Parts: sequence; structure tokens; C-alpha cells
Amino acid sequence: MPQTSRITKAVIPAAGLGTRFLPATKAMPKEMLPVVDEPAIQYVVAEAAKAGLDNVLMITGRSKRALEDHFDRVPTLEAVLEAKGDTRRLAAVQESNTLGDIHYVRQGDPKGLGHAVLCAKRHVGDEPFAVLLGDDLIDSRDELLGEMIRVQQATGGSVIALMEVDPEQISSYGCADVESVDGEDYVRVNRLVEKPAVEEAPSNLAVIGRYVLHPAVFDVLEQTQPGRGGEIQLTDALEVLAADEGEGGGVHAVVFRGRRYDTGDKLSYLKAVVTLAVEREDLAGLRPWLKDFAAAL
Ligand code: UTP
Repeated sequence: MPQTSRITKAVIPAAGLGTRFLPATKAMPKEMLPVVDEPAIQYVVAEAAKAGLDNVLMITGRSKRALEDHFDRVPTLEAVLEAKGDTRRLAAVQESNTLGDIHYVRQGDPKGLGHAVLCAKRHVGDEPFAVLLGDDLIDSRDELLGEMIRVQQATGGSVIALMEVDPEQISSYGCADVESVDGEDYVRVNRLVEKPAVEEAPSNLAVIGRYVLHPAVFDVLEQTQPGRGGEIQLTDALEVLAADEGEGGGVHAVVFRGRRYDTGDKLSYLKAVVTLAVEREDLAGLRPWLKDFAAAL
């Protein structure tokens, strides 16, 4: 039965250990790493706000302070900028605290993405909600979340986002086996496998960090045992929902063909920063420098 209640809540898990980015992430969550001049998480909160999700729950762990501080006001800093008449920087400082109503809950022990989502159960209640991973950036010029919300409202179950990757990269992602849906541009998910070996992957469709979930996922997560890597995997719970034809069951997917930037590991983070920085007018000097730099390599 399609759900018609409007989706307003976004859950942003940011409690992972960020081991791929050590030592930078020893005392700071990787979601606070700057992508040009904004922390990665601010792009994600802005994306949620743009899709109409202004009730945000961040799942944090150690070093939650930096995240909370970033989305809070800093009256002393604002006063200094105001006194200087620096309206441009003042607006930049204030932007992060106007993006929505942000709540925090601590995961305590980071037992996996599925466990992080389960920490949102009380806050979310009995309504569909979005999950946005704080280290996965979707270009603001490309539409994804709004489309996923529309598909959730049409199908009533849960919706994931997929992206085609080179077949040999699939073992870094969750992977989906899908079938087309007559007359629709979204697909039905039959099966999901977390980080499969290349030869066992059912497709080259990788799960990326956006979900619009039916609250039935919470009951499934409560029963989900630790899976790959000893972690409670969201993919495993979605696999159960994909096979469930009852109320709240069924998983569909939007195949995203736009621009996505992964900031979770060093190489893709560096690529994301350079890609976004060369487009910035205030950093116009970067492009010619990069060309010279590359020519001299
Ligand atoms: P990742 O697996 O990319 O994050 O989880 P990680 O564990 O921090 O990274 P590495 O592999 O050690 O470098 C995807 C998202 O889920 C969150 C992370 O913060 C990230 O945004 N997460 C993961 C949690 O909130 N809690 C967890 O227990 C695990």
C-alpha cells in the first residue's frame, strides 16, 4: 500500500571510526574534513534541506563536539565579522545553522551502519525517513533524493540508490540484483550482497549512500545479526525487506547517473576536492596551476 505521509526526517550516520583516513580522524570525524571550504557533512545537510527534510538526526560517536559546534551559532565570531562589515564571511558562517532542526544521538559502540540507523528508531517513529551517509556527496546540480522520495511515496516500501561502477570495483560496495518495473524508470531490487567478490557479484550496480526507508526496517534491524566485518549491516536488513511482500516490505532503487563524490578514503577525497575546487570562481588560479603541475609530472 503506497505511503502518503510526507517525509520530513533525515538520519545522517556519522559515528564510524573512519579508519581509512587515520590519523586525520583520530580526534575528528571524517565527515568534518573540508571539501574546499565546507565540511563534507554540510553538503549533506544542505542536500537534505533542499529535498524538504529539515528535521535532521545525526548519529554521532566520539568527537561529536566538532559536528555539534559546526551547526551551532558562534556569536563572538559573528560579532567580529559584523563589526568588520564582512557580510560575505558572516553569511558563510551563519549558513550551517539555518539548514534545519538538527538533533544528535550517540551510537556509543560503532557496531555498523545498520546499528547506527537503529539508533534513530525513537526519533523517527512510525514514518518513512531518509538516510544520507555523511561521506558521500551528491552534486547539488543533480537530482537524486527528491526522486527517491517520489518513488517511496509511489511504492510504499524502501528505496535505495544505485550507481554503475567498473565491475572490478564492485567488491568495495553493496551490490544489487535488480529487475525493471513496467513503465517506470526505477527498478525492483531482488537481492543485495554486501561487498561481494568480483566473480560473485550479481551486477555492477553499487549501493551508494542515500536511502529512503520504511520504518519496518527497524524491526528487521533488531533481528539482524552481525554480518560482513562483524558489523550489523544495513544491506542485510534491506535484503530481508526486499524479499518481504507484506506491509512495509519491498525495495526499489533509483539508478543515479549524476555526479557523486566519495570523501571516505584518501584518494577519492582528493579527487572530490580538486573536482569541486576547479569549478569555483574564487579559486580561478587553481586550473592553470593544475595544468602546469600535471604537465611537469
Ligand atoms: P563506513 O564504513 O564508510 O565508515 O560507513 P567508517 O567505518 O567510519 O569508515 P572506515 O572504513 O573505518 O574508514 C559509512 C557511514 O556509516 C557511518 C559512517 O560514519 C559513515 O558515514 N557509520 C558506520 C556509523 O555511523 N556507525 C558505524 O558503526 C559504522
